[in-house]
Amino acid sequence: MSELPTETLEGRVAVVTGGGAGLGEALARMFAGAGMAVAVLDIDEEAAAAVAKSIASVGASATSVPVDVGNSESVAAAAEHVRATLGACHVLCSNVGVQQFGTFERLTEQDWSWVLDVNVMGAVRSVRAFLPMIRAESGFRHLLFTASSSVLAPSVRMACYQTSKFAVLGLAESLREELGSEGIGVTTLFPAAMLTGHLDSSVRARPVSLGESRLDQADVDAMLAHQPIGPDDVTSPEHAIRNLLADLKNDEPYVMTHGSHRSIYEQRRVAMDAAFDRMENS
Ligand SMILES: NC(=O)c1ccc[n+]([C@@H]2O[C@H](COP(=O)([O-])OP(=O)(O)OC[C@H]3O[C@@H](n4cnc5c(N)ncnc54)[C@H](O)[C@@H]3O)[C@@H](O)[C@H]2O)c1
Repeated sequence: MSELPTETLEGRVAVVTGGGAGLGEALARMFAGAGMAVAVLDIDEEAAAAVAKSIASVGASATSVPVDVGNSESVAAAAEHVRATLGACHVLCSNVGVQQFGTFERLTEQDWSWVLDVNVMGAVRSVRAFLPMIRAESGFRHLLFTASSSVLAPSVRMACYQTSKFAVLGLAESLREELGSEGIGVTTLFPAAMLTGHLDSSVRARPVSLGESRLDQADVDAMLAHQPIGPDDVTSPEHAIRNLLADLKNDEPYVMTHGSHRSIYEQRRVAMDAAFDRMENS
C-alpha cells in the first residue's frame, strides 16, 4: 500500500448512499462537520432532501438526489448529479443495506434476490458509478463499506442478510488490494446494534412486485437471543462512528462499533487456526 496523503478533508466531496436516515445520515453529518461537501443519496427522496437541507443550514455545502441502488441507471444518474452540483467525489460511503428476516426454509428466492441485489450489487453499482470520479482526483480518496457485525458473529433467521454482508466484505477487501497502489483507501465498517429505523425502512424500500415484506417479532427475538447483545449495547449511529474519521484518515481496513461480538469472532479465529494446525500436522 502506498503512503496515503494526509491533507485535510476540507473542501473535498463525500457521497453517502442511504444517507437519508440512521447511520448514513450520521456519516453525512460527520463529513460535513469535517468541512467536506456532502451528497446525500437515498431511495427516500424527502428524507435525503431533509438531511441535505439541515446540513446546508449550518453552512456546509450539501446536495441530495433520489437513488435506488437496485437500479444501475438510477445510480449512474445520481453520480451525474453529484458531478454537476459538487464537481467531484473523493469519498464514497456505500452504506445502503436492507434486511429480510426468516428461517432458511421461509426465506423465498425473491427475498434472496432482493437482499443480495440491493446489498451486494447496490455496492457494486455505487462503486462502478463513482470510482471514475474518485480516480480523476488526487490526494485523500476513500471507499467506506457498511458491512455488519453479523459477519463477525453470525446469528439466526437472517441468512440472506448475513450472506450479503459477507459479500460486502469480500468486495471491500478485493478493492483494497486493487486500489491501494493508486492511493485510494478502502475501509469496512462492522456496525452492531444501533437505534435506527432499519427494519421499517427495509419494509418500505422493498419493491411491491417482490411480494409483501414480512417483519415477524419472533424472528427478531430469536436473532437477538442468539447474539451477544444486551439492551445496554444498543447505541446511536453517531456514537457508533465516533472514531471513524481518524480511522479513515489512517486508512484502517476495519472499524468496529461495539465490543460485544469480540469473543464470538475470537472463536472463529481459534477454529481457523486449529484447521491450519490439523492440516500442517497431518
Ligand atoms: N441499525 C443497525 O443496528 C445495523 C446493524 C448492522 C448493520 N447495519 C447496516 O447499516 C446500514 C445503514 O442502516 P441503518 O441502520 O442506518 O438503517 P436506516 O433505515 O436508518 O437507513 C437505511 C437507508 O437506506 C435507504 N435505502 C433502502 N433501500 C434503498 C435503496 N434500494 N436505494 C437507496 N437507498 C435505500 C433507506 O431509505 C434508509 O434511509 C445498512 O447497511 C445496515 O445493514 C445496521
